[in-house]
Amino acid sequence: MCGIVGYAGPRAQAPSSRPVDVALQGLARLEYRGYDSAGVAVIDDGSLRVTKRAGKLANLREALEGGAETTGQVSIAHTRWATHGGPTDVNAHPHQGGRQGEIAVVHNGIIENFAGLRAELEADGFSFLSETDSEAAAHLVAREMEGVGDLTEAMRRAAASLEGAFTLLAVHQDAPDTVVAARRNSPLVVGLGEGENFLGSDVAAFVDSTKEALEIGQDQVVTVAADEVRIIDFDGTEVTDAKRYTIEWDAAAAQKGGYDSFMAKEIHEQAGAVADTLLGRLENGSLKLDEMDIDPSVLRSIDKIVVVACGTAANAGAVAKYAIEHWCRIPTEVELAHEFRYRDPVVTEKTLVVAISQSGETMDTLMAVRHAREQGAKVIALCNTRGSTIPRESDAALYLHVGPEIAVASTKAYLGQIAACYLLGLFLAQTRGNLYPDEIAALMGDLEQIPDQIQQVLDSSAQVEKLAQDMKDVSSVLFLGRHVGYPTAMEGALKLKEIAYIHAEGFAAGELKHGPIALVEEGQPVFVIVPSPNGRHSLHSKVVSNIQEVRARGARTLVIAEEGDEAVLPYADEVIWVPATRTLFAALLTVIPLQIFSCELATAKGLDVDQPRNLAKSVTVE
Ligand code: F6R
Repeated sequence: MCGIVGYAGPRAQAPSSRPVDVALQGLARLEYRGYDSAGVAVIDDGSLRVTKRAGKLANLREALEGGAETTGQVSIAHTRWATHGGPTDVNAHPHQGGRQGEIAVVHNGIIENFAGLRAELEADGFSFLSETDSEAAAHLVAREMEGVGDLTEAMRRAAASLEGAFTLLAVHQDAPDTVVAARRNSPLVVGLGEGENFLGSDVAAFVDSTKEALEIGQDQVVTVAADEVRIIDFDGTEVTDAKRYTIEWDAAAAQKGGYDSFMAKEIHEQAGAVADTLLGRLENGSLKLDEMDIDPSVLRSIDKIVVVACGTAANAGAVAKYAIEHWCRIPTEVELAHEFRYRDPVVTEKTLVVAISQSGETMDTLMAVRHAREQGAKVIALCNTRGSTIPRESDAALYLHVGPEIAVASTKAYLGQIAACYLLGLFLAQTRGNLYPDEIAALMGDLEQIPDQIQQVLDSSAQVEKLAQDMKDVSSVLFLGRHVGYPTAMEGALKLKEIAYIHAEGFAAGELKHGPIALVEEGQPVFVIVPSPNGRHSLHSKVVSNIQEVRARGARTLVIAEEGDEAVLPYADEVIWVPATRTLFAALLTVIPLQIFSCELATAKGLDVDQPRNLAKSVTVE
């Protein structure tokens, strides 16, 4: 969601690397989070200058051209995804606060007590220009500054009186060398440079300048100058144990690398991504998950697993259910994270909650994690982003290692999430003695073949690309599957909806006759994901019957099947072949043609594949 950048350093005089340029470069790297306005504040010759525009970064750049923002040592900047008030110039951040507009603040999150604060501040003579909750924070920090004359202390006092979720960054014209930030329930990370320091809502904001980062904990205030980073908590106590780490992501990994879109690039990176998720997990025949910090006796005692996640991550969770129940015989539920805590779920100390999130910042999932821990459950996070909030607030974390995912639509992280779910399932089976070591080794052996098989699917993408181009004017597509083919169908439909804006539905194929088959008319495209004919034969034949059912009613059947599965040929208008693997592991292969289909179709329609309308990469509000 909103992107935040802060900079304090000596670059004042260097052309195209002034604080304003550093801020704009950071915003460009955060564009993938989704936004509808952008702005920047600098302190120039002792005066605060704020420039902000609705729309894309190009509008902001245009407004800055020929501007006087040439000197000064600090900048803060923001890309906004509208919540309170529409995406206008006035509602864009930074917001100026104070009686003379002497402070600028950017904010990510939602301030829940803003209405009361606004009334109180207006009564105290502060004027509001925007409809946002954030402007109240700007005035609040400014009012505290009037009293204490120190920006860090002013921020600390203001932050302690705010309710809700926020990352705040502030610059004040009386403190021209520093940026002060605070966070609660919203991401913030510090980049440590040589004689310069950075702030970002994630490391992408500064990864091309430094790889050294510092985690900022919950309810903390950080003051950043060119050669100093100081952290205190909301009580004013100095924080000396902030965790420093080195960012593994390469700045080049965040570039498009010759593809039309980040999404296309990320789809084509999936063989390496899954290989990286699986890398180094097997040692002397035994599975080793080194981020797993829960006592084995606790894992042996659990009697239920609840997977919490949203969107694509929830579809990965649905695959996990098939694997974990089959291997570990533990009842496993998959719950959309935003529904979880509101239905008063049965969670005990014997429940293991698995939170799946690419970003590690999805607020709905974070709230589910907190609720589960309050009930005494242990939580394992499956996340891609190191240092993000969900793994930090969980009992253990298993990282995906798939590298940065920039496109809003998740692809390589989905495969990484499924692979991580398999690892977790096998680890639980090993710990609880549900599978013998040789069975685990055989399963791991087959899993390790998957990256090569993914590459084979990617190498034959031309057929699906042509199909997508030919179908660019369709208005509705259905997706059917059974077993792990069902979440694959859901994921195929989600991808098509979100980036190509085409009506799409994913169904469990067996559900068809209970209603959805009424949708099928002459020419209706229906993708069907067919399980291996070699695994569970009755499962395979049931799906082949489903293909016949829809075809008999005029559907155009687009069948994804295992190489050599001739049983589908009489009923398929088009067959997309994938290599043979275990029924469970096919979820890592059969979804790829569906990802390629959506990406290519949206590209053929001339849509913004990486930043689809109304969507944000990291959804940090509930
Ligand atoms: C769809 C998509 C979203 C995310 C969901 C959860 O392509 O990307 O549905 O999967 O918002 O995000 P994370 O995994 O960051 O928690």
